[in-house]
Parts: sequence; C-alpha cells; structure tokens
Amino acid sequence: MSLTTLTTAAGAPVPDDNNSISAGSRGPLTFDNHYLFEKLAHFNRERIPERVVHARGTGAYGEFTLKSGLEPLTIANFLQTAGEKTQVFVRFSTVGGGQDSSDYARDPRGFAVKFYTREGNYDIVGNNTPVFFLNDPIKFPDFIHSQKKNPRTNLPDPAAMYEFWANHPQSLHQMTILMSDRGIPASYRHMHGFSSHTLSLWNAKGERYWVKWHFKSCQGIKTLTAEEAAQQPPFGAQQDLVDAIDRGDFPAWRVYLQVLTEADAAQWSLNPFDLTKVWSQKLVPLQEIGTLQLNRNVENYFAETEQAAFAPSNLVPGTGASPDKMLQARLLAYQDAHRYRLGVNANQIPVNAPQCPVNHYQRDGAMAGCPFSQGRSVQTREVNFFPNDRSAAGAPVPDIRAQEPPLRLSAEAVARYDQSGEDYYSQAGDLFRLMTEDQKQQLVNNIAGGLRYANTSIQERMLAYLHQADADYAARVAALLG
Ligand code: HEM
Repeated sequence: MSLTTLTTAAGAPVPDDNNSISAGSRGPLTFDNHYLFEKLAHFNRERIPERVVHARGTGAYGEFTLKSGLEPLTIANFLQTAGEKTQVFVRFSTVGGGQDSSDYARDPRGFAVKFYTREGNYDIVGNNTPVFFLNDPIKFPDFIHSQKKNPRTNLPDPAAMYEFWANHPQSLHQMTILMSDRGIPASYRHMHGFSSHTLSLWNAKGERYWVKWHFKSCQGIKTLTAEEAAQQPPFGAQQDLVDAIDRGDFPAWRVYLQVLTEADAAQWSLNPFDLTKVWSQKLVPLQEIGTLQLNRNVENYFAETEQAAFAPSNLVPGTGASPDKMLQARLLAYQDAHRYRLGVNANQIPVNAPQCPVNHYQRDGAMAGCPFSQGRSVQTREVNFFPNDRSAAGAPVPDIRAQEPPLRLSAEAVARYDQSGEDYYSQAGDLFRLMTEDQKQQLVNNIAGGLRYANTSIQERMLAYLHQADADYAARVAALLG
C-alpha cells in the first residue's frame, strides 16, 4: 500500500473520511460505521490526566558537555571524560496552573533535566529557585491546595496562599524570592535552574560528596513585572523556546556544582539537607563542570513533552539522593504519579526510554512491548524470574558496582521531626538586604498586593515573620497595608 493512503489504526485503507454510512440522505447512520466508531472512540480517550503540579510546560532535547572529568567525585560514567556529550531532554514548567493557564504566572518554574547516560537515565527534577517553601513532605498536598484555585469558586485565592504562609514560617525564604522581581521569568531561556535539594555523588573509593547543582543561564536573567506579565500572550514562553531553537539560537546554561564532604557537612550547624536554606557560596564555592544546550524541538508535543516522566529516583551509579526529607518523599511520589498518568510501562515510552540496554524481569502491564530503545522490547526474553541458571546465556544479573556507599546515621531517635526551633528568618533577611532599593520596593508591593486580601490575623502573623527577617522589610509592607 502507498505511504500516503489514509488508513484505520489497524492499517486498512479508508475509502471515505468525510461521509458516514447512512440509510439514505435523510436516514439514520448504520451499524457498519466501524471507522466512524474508531475515530470517536479514540477521540474520547485523547486526554490523559495532567500532572497534578507543573501541568503547564514545554520541553526540548539537547546535550550536556562535560568540561573536565569528575573522577575524584564520582564513578558516574557520563561525568568521567572531558568533552563527553550526553543527550538530554529538558522540560520547563510553571507549578500551580493547569495545562491551559498562563506561562507568566508569579510561580516558581520547573527545570527538569533527563540525562540519557550509558548506565541509565539520570534525572535532576529541579526548579528555578535554590530553595523551596517546605522541608517536610507531609505539608506538600496542603501547600499545593492553598496555592491552586479555590475549591468553591475555581478562582485564584491570594488570601489562602497567605493563610498557608502565615502558618508556615519555613516558607518565608522562598516566598521572598517568589514575590521579588525574579518571581516572573520573562522566558524559560532567561532563568537559572537548581537541583535545590542536596544530592550526592560517590567515587570508586566509596567516598560520598553532598552536592547541589546550579544551571546558570547563558542568556542572562530577564524578568517581568506583574503589569508586563499581564500583557503577554498566555503561551509566550512556549513560543519563545520553540522559536529560538527553530532559528538555531540554541539556549545554553553553564553547569556548576557546590560540593561538600560528608565530614564537613557533619560539622555544620546549618542542616545541609534543609530545602528551605541555601549553602553560602562563600563557604562552598561553585565549581563549573559543563554546559547544557538545547538544540532540538520535539516532533510531537503530546508524545514527547506531555508523556515525559521525570523522577528524582532516576539515579545512576556514582550518584545518589540525600537525607533531605522532601527528596525522600519525592523518590516515591514521581514513579507513583507516572503509573497513574502514563501507566506501569511509562519507561517504555520513547522520550523516557533509556538509551542503553535495559534488562529486567518485570513483565506485562498495559502497553507492554511498546517500541523500545535500540529497537527491541525488554519484555521478550524467555526467563522472567531471578535468580535463574541462565546467566551464561545472557540472563541479567545484578552488579555490586552500582551499590552506594553506606550512609552513616547519627544516634538520634526515630520520632516526629520538630522544626519549631529552626531559624527560617536569617536567609530571607539576608536576601532582602542584598536587594537594591527598586528590588525592595517591587518585593513589598507584590507582597502587599496579595496580603491585603487576607484577614488581619494572617497579616499580623506574616508581618511578624517579616520583622524577624528584617525590621525594614516588615515596616515597608505594613506601611502599604496601612
Ligand atoms: C514532597 C514534595 C514534592 C512532591 C510530593 C512532589 C510531587 C510532584 C508530582 C506528583 C509531580 C507530577 C509528576 C508527573 O506527573 O510526572 C511533580 C512534578 C514536578 N515537580 Fe514536584 N513534588 C515535590 C516537590 C518538588 C520540589 C522541591 C521540586 C523542585 C526542587 C519539584 C519539582 C518538580 C518539577 C520540575 C516537576 C515537573 C516535572 C516535569 O517537567 O515533568 N517538586 N511533583
């Protein structure tokens, strides 16, 4: 059959795609309209659940080029040889809005990078901010509920946002970043990315290093005021990225690590695994390790970007997570979300498929046997259990080399994590004091703009937090609230 003949999904030629089969010009349709039924049935199932957060986004392919080998830090094979290139898929997103919201919300931006390494996919599922609102995952659903639309009116609810923040001083640092002039990136190209979390690398000697990843935009930082953002088309950031790549103006980010030894981390008074805090770059300077460049748009947005599945649990030998409590929960949450959103074989979807051999004993499930990387399905092997006696014939066996070094824990008791004594104010105050007069004014205007919808009790609690960060910070917001 010709390559241009219209076919059914089962490949049979379609004689007519304009007219249903009917009993005469004024009669009803007949039951042999199976092609019409196929079209309507497929159409009914075109939508899958959108991501519960970060629903609106855009992605592109590119490459990461390593500047110099990181053998002293890690056995990760994509981090060994200077000049080595690793293919990546990156997805940027807003957090709170649904798929049809605006690209220009005052909201953190997701910055998720999938490295297709020779030993599996390594995902850094970060944001454009170095910290987050929370450091205990038990708060995450409450937080997101308070930031998304009101359940009754289906409208944005700034009072609820501040109600959450007024009850959670740990949010103050990230709230200060969000309400600052950096709160609305002008495009996805003009913002930095961060792992935010402390992650780890480990070397051949079994030494572990705690690391934070930084992706610094080579395009520079550009931001919008709330007024400017309101003038933008809702899909402007998507268009900016697609157009830049289509015209060969490939966006790039310099990639840096902050590296801390386990021994040094143990001496710190600041908890190095607290996601609400940054690591001072004076204490732990940035080390440049490479460049990330995006150079290819997707062929099909739904198949690739919408079905992309990033997971902090996608780790490769020489890399690891950390005791950051938020990160620990994310090790479970993303795989779980993918099973719901994409199915149990999400990793067989081409954008998620590793570009290296995949050998395991998992079998069956919806969509098993999808076209797979390197042209074969992982599920074809005869033996589907382990251990077995067939390793000589190529049946996969575990590799102890992939074992992370043991994590030594202190002798603290297993108990609920009480954060009431934590200092959530100093770093927010430091950030405020670093701002120019104009930046301070934008910050306090943005806060007062939303906080005025909250009741007096919430306003008072927020002002008390701001005061602990910096008396001037609180005084300026108080003046605007009258
Ligand atoms: C306990 C805390 C968190 C939980 C339970 C959580 C949960 C989720 C879930 C369920 C998704 C949707 C995944 C999907 O359907 O594919 C998601 C997406 C995402 N999250 Fe989180 N999240 C948490 C914290 C964070 C933090 C701290 C960051 C950044 C540092 C982050 C960055 C992202 C990004 C970038 C995406 C979008 C990934 C993509 O482009 O597909 N999340 N999160």
